[in-house]
Amino acid sequence: MYNDNPTLEGLQHKIDPQKQGEVFFQESVKPGDKYFYIESYGCQMNFSDSEIVASILAAEGFQATRNLEMADLILINTCSIREKAEETVRKRLRIFDKLKTNKPGILVGVLGCMAERLKKKFLEDEKLVDLVVGPDAYRDLPQLVATAEDGEKGINVFLSREETYADIAPLRLDSNGVAAFISIMRGCDNMCSFCVVPFTRGRERSREVYSIVAEATDLFEKGYREVTLLGQNVDSFKWENPETKEVVNFARLLELVAKVHPDLRVRFSTSHPKDITDEVLHTIAAYENICNYIHLPVQSGNSRVLDLMNRTYDREWYTERVEAIYRIIPDCAISSDIITGFCTETDAEHRETLSMIEQADFSMSYMFYYSERPGTLAAKKYADDIPLETKKSRLQEIIRLQNQVSFRHNKRDIGKTFKVLIEGDSKRSDQQFKGRNSQNKMIVFPKTPGLKPGDYTHVRVIDATSATLIAEGITA
Ligand code: SAH
Ligand code: SF4
Ligand code: F3S
Repeated sequence: MYNDNPTLEGLQHKIDPQKQGEVFFQESVKPGDKYFYIESYGCQMNFSDSEIVASILAAEGFQATRNLEMADLILINTCSIREKAEETVRKRLRIFDKLKTNKPGILVGVLGCMAERLKKKFLEDEKLVDLVVGPDAYRDLPQLVATAEDGEKGINVFLSREETYADIAPLRLDSNGVAAFISIMRGCDNMCSFCVVPFTRGRERSREVYSIVAEATDLFEKGYREVTLLGQNVDSFKWENPETKEVVNFARLLELVAKVHPDLRVRFSTSHPKDITDEVLHTIAAYENICNYIHLPVQSGNSRVLDLMNRTYDREWYTERVEAIYRIIPDCAISSDIITGFCTETDAEHRETLSMIEQADFSMSYMFYYSERPGTLAAKKYADDIPLETKKSRLQEIIRLQNQVSFRHNKRDIGKTFKVLIEGDSKRSDQQFKGRNSQNKMIVFPKTPGLKPGDYTHVRVIDATSATLIAEGITA
């Protein structure tokens, strides 16, 4: 889910103003047209935001391009979650700066989570960028671009308590036409001590429910068959209808989206262990099209470390939630995020994280070593005292064990039959399709005539690696 690398695929598009919400490839420059290039880092929320940015720019006559050389406006949607993510962005900015020397007049803008923290540095010290736009200020982009075109710096890093971009139809940039993201909330009110997100994205706010359902309906009508509802903590989704005063919580929202159409798969991310309720689990169990997959980041398997992390649950609480998931949704897969080497973590505490991977039987995990972020609670209160070597060796141990657990998890699927939503050709061969089952496992299988991306089909698993299931088609 988290990506510290640029995704350059699929970002060269031409927007046809006749077809709101759809994007087409653009091969060459038409004189007089203006082009923007956007590169996204970080979590799915950032990728989703880039689609909102694309929509705002398209309304101003900008076309999207994947070709840097064609661009009049280069945007980089940044992530601050770990030091490494920020370093990558700085490297890219230096490359963009070289382009500027060859093509004077092009503008470079920093969007997203690094904007607030680094606005001064970018604008004054490094002089690499013309625009700095925070995650809640994208509506202001056209005006900021105009300011920058006039030779001034365009900057807006204001964090809003209300902005959800509910009325903006995102332009699907990196799309396979089958699966799309829908942002249902923004910001975060949790104060996990390691985390920079509450500072970069501001206060939590939920998006108006009917605009979410309308976006899902529109996607289904355009041929999409899967939506992922996005928020930093989806379980705290809460929207009150101003007229009826009816309160819609996450369980109810899931139900409303699931009812758009039985053939529209619904996924969601991220669930917080402290907030995920039995009501949500029962809703997942009640609808076949709500996927049996929960990303439930544990971060650490040790209660003392969890307390220092300010996650507000302990190992026992997490264990109980995992048991509830397997009880209410027996074939559910659970994945996790894990941080190794958090402040003062001992070897014994690290081993409790290892045992949690086994105990919770994670189908997969995103694993990181702790990276201190300036301004966070942990940076203020605790020494970053675990040597880098130890952080890295603990991470290696975690990765090794998770791979074994994933492999075991996948091997248990051999012989089982799954309903798969076809996403496209497999990476290895155009004779094979890839698609995912409800549990979010990637499955590759031979193509059969008549089937195409966006179709559902049933396959039987015949082999497995730690990352993929290999299957054969079955005739009904
Ligand atoms: N809202 C989500 C997480 C968003 S950040 C949640 O609460 O689960 C994604 C992941 O990055 C986190 O789950 C955590 O594992 C990791 N992460 C966040 N801050 C980090 C830091 N300072 N160092 C290392 N990993 C970090
Ligand atoms: Fe960060 Fe915690 Fe919020 Fe997730 S829930 S975004 S880890 S503060
Ligand atoms: Fe990164 Fe911001 Fe997401 S810091 S992980 S892009 S919310």
